[in-house]
Formats: sequence, C-alpha cells, structure tokens
Amino acid sequence: MVDTAPALKVAIDGPAGAGKSTVAKLAAKRLGYLYLDTGAMYRAATVLALRKGLSMEEPDEIAEAVAQAKIDLVPAMNADGSPLLKVFLDDEDITYEIRSREVSLMVSPLSTIGPVRDSLVAQQRRLSQNGGVVLDGRDIGTVVLPNAEVKVFLTASAAERAKRRMREFEARGESVAYDTVLQEMLERDKRDSTREIAPLKKAVDAHEVVTDGMSIAEVVDKILELCANAKVHERSRRELI
Ligand code: DC
Repeated sequence: MVDTAPALKVAIDGPAGAGKSTVAKLAAKRLGYLYLDTGAMYRAATVLALRKGLSMEEPDEIAEAVAQAKIDLVPAMNADGSPLLKVFLDDEDITYEIRSREVSLMVSPLSTIGPVRDSLVAQQRRLSQNGGVVLDGRDIGTVVLPNAEVKVFLTASAAERAKRRMREFEARGESVAYDTVLQEMLERDKRDSTREIAPLKKAVDAHEVVTDGMSIAEVVDKILELCANAKVHERSRRELI
C-alpha cells in the first residue's frame, strides 16, 4: 500500500539531559523517519576544533574549519537492536569521542559562534527539506524549522537531568561527582539559554513535556500521539487547498 501520510517535520528541543536524543531516536524509528541529533553536529565541530588545537580565541579559524569539514550522521543499530546514530568527521567514526567530558565542556561555548551555527543550520535544513525527519537540539522549533508541524519542548528537573548525565559518564568509565555534573550542566543551560544567537527557548507553539517520573516509552508514545494528531490536521489542511 502506498503511504500517503504527510511526511512531517518533528522538532524536539530542550536542555541538556532531558532525554531528547533517546526519545527522538526511538520516535524516528517508529515513524520510519530520518533522525538528526543536531547536538552531535556541534559536538563533532568541537572535536574538530580540539584536534586542530583551536581555542575559543580563534572563532574565525574554527568556523572556517567547520565549513570545510564533512560531518555525517549515519543511522545504525546497537547489538540489542536499539537504534544508534553514528557520527563521522571526514569519514572517521567519532561517535564515542563526541560524548567525552572534554567535548561536553567546550561544545556550549563553541556553539555561540555565529558562522559555525550558519554552516550547521544550513546542513540541517537541507537534510530536512522533504520532511520525514525528527531533529533534536536547542533551536529547532525556533530557528532551524520554524514551520515544523510538531514541536516538543522536552524538559525535566535539574536533579533528574544531572543523574542521567552522571550515569552516561559512568557507563564510559569517567567517574565525575554528582555536584560537579550538576554544576557544569547548569552552567551549560545558562549559556545555551542566554546566548545572543538562537538561544534555547520554548517555541510559542511547542508542546512542553516534563519527563520526571515518565518512562522512555511513555515519552515516545506522547510524541507519536502529537505526530498522529498533526498528520490528521495536515491531511485536512491539504484537502482544503
Ligand atoms: O544536546 P547536546 O548536549 O549533545 O548538545 C551539545 C551542545 O550543543 C549544547 O550545549 C548546545 C549546543 N547545541 C546548540 O547550540 N544547538 C543545537 N541545535 C543543538 C545543540
């Protein structure tokens, strides 16, 4: 049967540790959509800057390096069948490296560089132009895809988010004290929310989902329900044209 359902653009924004990438990846799989983790793109740009020995004092050089680089996101699968997004920098797999603490500390300042954002946003829009995409980040509903049919602002209490981040570091064998993780996360949130260009902000038409006490499956179901409603709405809108 030919699927005539409209291919939606789904924007998922929110602060660090809200669980965006976990649920966005699963929602994309269930919808049969392409998943783009835009934070991973900023992280790949950070790996590039670190490897080139560039500091935040050299924003033009960082922007130039990012404009020249090839950053690819490739859907793959974990051994347990769960979806995984591989990140490549100039064809080298850097999926593991982008989650290091060193990268986590530099990515937020780096993402304030306007020309770096311009390069990455252009790539995000190009990959989204035909719909059938789920993007997660900070500025998807406000800047990258302001016309997305589904916008979700995913959040959770700072304590819950810090706990999740700490478990991620532990799984990598990087042991960091809870207070340090919480402190660094709050600093990152503050910088991401107060920066001049494309700050983290709930779009006026976004649905806020607070995930404290919700299971991953419940959050994914909530997003799919919003998508199902948007498809009905989009179908009737098209019939009226
Ligand atoms: O989602 P994450 O923690 O992997 O994102 C890493 C950083 O990238 C985050 O501190 C802010 C930045 N970012 C951004 O500025 N815009 C996006 N669309 C996604 C991430």
